[in-house]
Parts: sequence; C-alpha cells; structure tokens
Amino acid sequence: MSTKSKKTYYITTPIYYSSGSFHLGHCYTTVICDAIARFKRMDGYDVFYLTGTDEHGQKVQQKAEAAGVTPKQYVDRLYDQIVELWKVLGISYDKFIRTTDGYHEATVQKVYEKLLASGDIYKSQYEGWYCTPCESFWTESQLVDGKCPDCGREVKLQKEESYFFRLSKYQDRLIKFYEENPEFISPKSRMNEMINNFIKPGLKDLCISRTTFDWGIKLPFDQKHVAYVWIDALTNYITALGYLQDDHKLYDKFWPADLHMVGKEIVRFHTIIWPALLMALDLPLPKKVYGHGWLLFGNDKMSKSKGNVVDPIVLAGRYGADVIRYFLLREIPFGSDGVYTNEALLVRTNADLVNDLGNLVSRTTAMVTQYFGGTIPQPNAYTELDKELISLCEGTLSKVRADIDNLSAPDALVDIFKIIQRANKYIDETMPWALNKAGDKERLATVMYVLCECIRYSATLLTPFIPSTSEVIFGKLGLPAPKNFTKLAKFGQIGSGVTVNKGENLFNRIDVDKELKELDKIAEQQAKPVQKVEEKPAEEQISIEDFAKVKLCTAKVLSCEKVAKSDKLLVFKLQVGDEIRQVVSGIAQYYTPEYMIGKTVVLVKNLKPAKIRGVDSNGMILCAADGKSVVFVTPEKEMDSGKEVR
Ligand code: MSP
Repeated sequence: MSTKSKKTYYITTPIYYSSGSFHLGHCYTTVICDAIARFKRMDGYDVFYLTGTDEHGQKVQQKAEAAGVTPKQYVDRLYDQIVELWKVLGISYDKFIRTTDGYHEATVQKVYEKLLASGDIYKSQYEGWYCTPCESFWTESQLVDGKCPDCGREVKLQKEESYFFRLSKYQDRLIKFYEENPEFISPKSRMNEMINNFIKPGLKDLCISRTTFDWGIKLPFDQKHVAYVWIDALTNYITALGYLQDDHKLYDKFWPADLHMVGKEIVRFHTIIWPALLMALDLPLPKKVYGHGWLLFGNDKMSKSKGNVVDPIVLAGRYGADVIRYFLLREIPFGSDGVYTNEALLVRTNADLVNDLGNLVSRTTAMVTQYFGGTIPQPNAYTELDKELISLCEGTLSKVRADIDNLSAPDALVDIFKIIQRANKYIDETMPWALNKAGDKERLATVMYVLCECIRYSATLLTPFIPSTSEVIFGKLGLPAPKNFTKLAKFGQIGSGVTVNKGENLFNRIDVDKELKELDKIAEQQAKPVQKVEEKPAEEQISIEDFAKVKLCTAKVLSCEKVAKSDKLLVFKLQVGDEIRQVVSGIAQYYTPEYMIGKTVVLVKNLKPAKIRGVDSNGMILCAADGKSVVFVTPEKEMDSGKEVR
C-alpha cells in the first residue's frame, strides 16, 4: 500500500485528570487503545493515537493549594508520573497533549470567540449543583440522595455569573444524528441510556465558564471567567491536530476521529456536549464513541477516593508489563465491568501465558534444538492434520480483524490463543519424541516446521497486545519481528537456514499462594499512612548577596596564649596578609597554645570588634563542632595568609 492510498485511523483516549495518582483502572482505556492502534498500524492504516492530561480546573487548584505548590508545579509532577507509566506499559501514542500547552490554550480561546460570534453563547447567572471531583454540573432532580449521581460524593450549591452554551438548541439535531448513525454510541445500551436519561428529559443550556477560581483558560472577551474544564478538555481532540492553527495538516488528514474510547461515566460528555459543540463550530462529528466498563475492585469502581487502587507500576515491576496488558485486554468482558483480583491476575497468567504460550515456545524451540541442532527444518508433504492447523493459522487474521473492528480485545485474544492451544495439542498428537525414536526424520521435520509456523502466526498476531513478549519470541525463532501482517497471508514463510535460540522461559510459573501473600503485604505497606516526620521549623535561608557580606580569609597563627583567669579562651596574634590581628577564641579546652602556633586558620574578617573578658578581639576563627569536640577549619593545602575564602 502506498503512503498516499493508506487509510487513516484516528483514535483517542480521554485526557487524564492531573489531580491524583494513576491506578490500574486508568491503564485500562490506554492499554485497549494502544492494542487497537498497534493492530491498525500493522494492518496497513496510517494511525494517529492521541492521549494526554486534563490539567485545569478547581480540583487541581485545590489539590495544589493543599500541597503547598503552584497548580503548574502540581500538574508537572503528575505529567512526569503518567509519562513514566505509559513508558513502562509500552503505550505507543503519537502525541501527548497537555491542556496547559500554549497552542491548546490559544485555540480554546479562539473556539470561545467563534461561539460568541455565532450567538451560541450568552451571559447569565448559574444556580445549581456542582461536583468538584467530577467537574460536573447537576440539576436538583438529577442528584441521587442529594449526592453526585456519578461518584456519590457531596455536591455544592453554586451561584455565579457564567457564560452559557445553547445546548438546548441542538437537542433535535442530536437525536436525528443518533438515528442516522446508530453506531455512533457503542455499545448500544449506552445509546439508550443517553437518550432516556439525558435527551428525553430535555437538554438545558450548559454553563461553560467559571469565576470562583482562576486555574483555567481565561475567556478572551471576559478575563474574569475561565473556560469550563470539560469544554477545555473536549476540544483537545481537535487542538492536538492543529485546528484553527497555522499548521493544520494533521487536522485535515485525521479529523473526524474514528474512535473516542472513554469510560462509561464520561460517555454523556462525549456524545451530547461534544457533538453539539462541534455542530456549533460547523465541524464534522466523530465516527464512534465507545463507552467501556469499569475495572472494579470488590463491588466498587477502582478509584483513589474509594481507597481501593492497585498500583500498576508495582505489578509491572513484579511480572512485566505484558502480563498486565494481557490481563486487562483478556479478562474484562469488553463493554461491561470486570472485577480485578490479584488471584485472577495470577491464575490467568499461569494458564495462558505460562502454560499455553510459554510451553509451546519452549517445547518447540527445545525440540528443534535437540532434533535438528537448532535449525528449523523445511517441511515435507503435509498431512490432513497439518492442513487443519494451516487453515486455522491462515484464517485467524480475518477473525481478529473483525474482533478489533467490534472493539473486542478479549475475543481477539481468544481467537489467537486457538492457534496456540491447537498447536500444543498437535505436539501431543504427533509425539515428536516417538518420531525421533523411530528415526522418522522426514515427518519430524514437517511437524517441527508446522509448529514454528504456528508460533510465527501467533506471535505476529499477539504483537499489538503483548509487544515485548512477541519480540522476544521472534528472537527465539531467529526471525525479524514483523512490522505488518503481510506475511500472514500464506502459511510456509519460514525459509531454510533459520536458527532458533531456546534461551530462558518466556514467563515463569507463579506460585499463586505465595505470591498472593506477598501482594497482600505490599498492599498493607502502601495503605499505611505515611509516617509524618516531625516537622522542623524551616531553616532560614540567605541569598548569595547575604553570604557575600561575610568576608572570610586565611590567617596564620603568629602567637597564641591563654587568656588570664579563663580555661576556655585563647588569644591569638594572626598574620592576615600585611596586617596583624588580635582575635580571642574559645578553644582552649581543645588545643594548646603551642599546638596552634604556625597553623593556618579561617578568619571571619569583617565581624564587629568586641571585648571578651576585657581582651580586644577583632574577628573570629572558624571552627566545626559536634557537641563533644571542636576543631578549627584549615585549608586542605598550604595557603598564604590573607587569601579570600568563599
Ligand atoms: N479528564 C476526564 C476526561 C476528559 S476527556 C476530554 C477524565 N479523566 S479521568 O482521569 O478521570 O479518567 C480517564 C479515563 O480513565 C476514563 O476513560 C475513565 O473512565 C478511566 N478510568 C478511571 N478509573 C477507571 C476504572 N476503575 N476502570 C476503568 N476505567 C477507569 O475523566
């Protein structure tokens, strides 16, 4: 396919709130999108995969204040964390947008100006309920037991001057659009939810500016107001492509988006507010919004506020990123909620990755090594049994393609694992060890070849889902890792002279009971409140200019005597360049006068003169003290007197 004729595919995750830490639930959307993006790239599409961070809003401002940092410092820290997390999980995004990026802020301002010019926004007074954690406005009737219907937390009565978006004006056009595009909201159940719960009761105009805090994008025509964080956030999908900017090549190429993948709680923002906003801007609408289910922990959504989060970095560190990716993609029925347990993760890993995939690869490479000195033999005539495996391999890409088009990663993995499971069974059926014993090298060669091809097919198809493992498998097979699916069209692509390298196991079997105890211990540790270190009053800091006021220099001890009637004081005559100084110092308990004569010390030269026990002292000798002893400070190498110390 030439670059010109390549079909494009634009896929997005929501941009993540920068107001807390990131947990395994957050990884769900990103990992799914990553697998889809990687699959589409290998399937010949020109893909643009966008993710990012949602960095404005009241919640961020409050968290930053509580942490004693500026909102920007706060979001910068979270940005570093999320970029690191996506690196660990191998997320192959093409662009990372931050809503504090200058180009985004400037474009959001232009969007507001456009909406004002088209008469789609007007100024009024907002009075209603606001959930700060969800950054959502609610009417009295939408509240559940007086709380936020999405997260169940307290809402606040909000009364402020605001700009409003004429959302109500778009109600009929939205309904018509849904009818003409029945695939727009998926799964279908979410479409009904939107129509029945939000559209039918009647859409109200939406408050789209705030005045009670200022961590946001200022409205160009009224600087007291900042943009409502959801309008700021949703527009990221087009600002990232260069919409209303000088360079809009990406926008021209990729908009409208093929897929906005979002969690089910934010479907309404993406299927009501976002399309209405695009209609107001006279832009094409995205092709699909998919609302996936939640990763639950116990009965609850995994979330920081519920205190039930699982740390993906800990898990990836223990088992490898692909184990986490595989679990998220395979275990949760797509579209529905799925429960996370450590046990489910470990059992799934042992069953699929260790037993099925790991065993197939290690048994096959071991047998090729043992029976053919490591070189994959060329096949002879295929039997009916071989042909069954060949047609399974050749038919799997189209099945997986359909699964991905249905956005069902679990089905795609089930289909790929059918090759792996069938190949393991084939080993038991063909009994290569018996063929070897019987000296049937001809049949043995065909069996080994079929097995290696099955591994090549599985590893190629697994690449979008568990990319690092697939690469390792290709290393073991002695083949270059494929960049696309073109070599899956026909069975029998492994040429002669390819040498396998068995190496270590792909995955080690996990002792589930032992590991569960370890994970419990880690969770306990993480749940412990961080021990508060006794806070010391902050040390007063001085500027470099303050420090420069202290004049320090080297001085040579010319004479030293005890001060009469004092067991602590010594009086020194010091050579300081051309000058001779008299200084009293309280070090008599630590040094004898004889010892001090001839030594080089550091003198505080510009200290105000004082009389100590009736003796004039003009400066101070620098010493270090640890409560038990006192030692004078001296240059590390010989130094003339009167030299500056700084
Ligand atoms: N900032 C908004 C999105 C703005 S998009 C224009 C937001 N951010 S979020 O950080 O709260 O959520 C980001 C994604 O993580 C969402 O798709 C959300 O559904 C997903 N998840 C957060 N917790 C989750 C689970 N426990 N399970 C599955 N996905 C979850 O919403």
